[in-house]
Amino acid sequence: MGDMSEAKIKTIGVLTSGGDAPGMNAAIRAVVRTAIQNGVAVKGIKQGYAGLLKEKIIDMNSSSVSDIIQRGGTVLGTARCPEFRTAKGQKQGVEICKKHGIDGLVVIGGDGSFAGAQKLANLGVATVGVPGTIDLDIACTDYTIGFDTAVNTAMEAIDKVRDTSTSHERCNIIEVMGHTAGYIALWCGIANGAEDILLPEKYDYDEQALINNIIRNRKLGKRHHIIVNAEGIGHSASMARRIESATGIETRATILGYMQRGGSPTCRDRYIASLMGAYAAMLLCSGKSMRVVAFKNDQCVDYDINEALRMQKDISAYEFEVGRLLSR
Ligand code: ADP
Ligand code: F6P
Repeated sequence: MGDMSEAKIKTIGVLTSGGDAPGMNAAIRAVVRTAIQNGVAVKGIKQGYAGLLKEKIIDMNSSSVSDIIQRGGTVLGTARCPEFRTAKGQKQGVEICKKHGIDGLVVIGGDGSFAGAQKLANLGVATVGVPGTIDLDIACTDYTIGFDTAVNTAMEAIDKVRDTSTSHERCNIIEVMGHTAGYIALWCGIANGAEDILLPEKYDYDEQALINNIIRNRKLGKRHHIIVNAEGIGHSASMARRIESATGIETRATILGYMQRGGSPTCRDRYIASLMGAYAAMLLCSGKSMRVVAFKNDQCVDYDINEALRMQKDISAYEFEVGRLLSR
């Protein structure tokens, strides 16, 4: 980790960017308190890169992050900022950091946010990324802040839909978030015992196979039929209409939507966010830049941002096969 007594950095900033995720507050709290205890001042930047460009910058101290660890969302606010994708926006961001004495920045967000951090680091502002997204779609890390809360929220919702599916002997399609990745769908599909799990990474568009499976299960005496569909596939409502007309079995679609992003973070999200946030602040305080914090084999490690952004992640054949096997 390096000798923090030799810290060259005097002030760091912290921002959250992209979609909010439960546990981001625990990460902010960890960044602020770790930096302060290492003699480094902290400024909070509101509304992600958009707030940076608008100079929405506040001083933070230990008590500014009191009473937030249990709250969902992000107290700093977040945004998507198209302007920051441009060289002009990035240059302006660097000038604003310099103006406010911000030597280093912790960016809590997903791959897009890390691409922004990469640009800032190239232009002379030290940056460290912390993976914060419910989607689990960051290749360098086993864990992203918010995923655990989101899958537990979705799992509980799907259990509830299943009660009605059984009572009415219906087929229910439940669409979960995940952007282009299927991790939330995979985890919920397995944890909820879904009859079918549709993942963007593996989807073959064979709707007839789905229909055959529903008819077969009904003949076997199953009263419910749950299909967990990933947002990256989408079209749940039209899929439901086609399945109902092909099977004669009442079929309904439910899109869980933003309820999956909110809510008080689970213990796991608070715990890992705290470890990662503290680690990110220590990296900056010890003079590191262009790093991403990752959680691998139950501990924090860090990667070069360029390397992290080049990594690829996929759902393994084993995980996919287990989902398929257990639903039969
Ligand atoms: P996430 O961080 O969750 O992947 P986005 O992809 O929406 O979310 O990215 C969040 C923000 O990061 C964007 O709105 C933009 O301001 C910034 N960003 C994304 N991609 C780039 C890029 N290639 N260069 C600079 N900034 C970027
Ligand atoms: O990245 C988190 C996420 O909720 C994705 O699952 C989803 O595709 C996207 O954000 C929705 O973003 P927005 O808040 O811009 O609608």
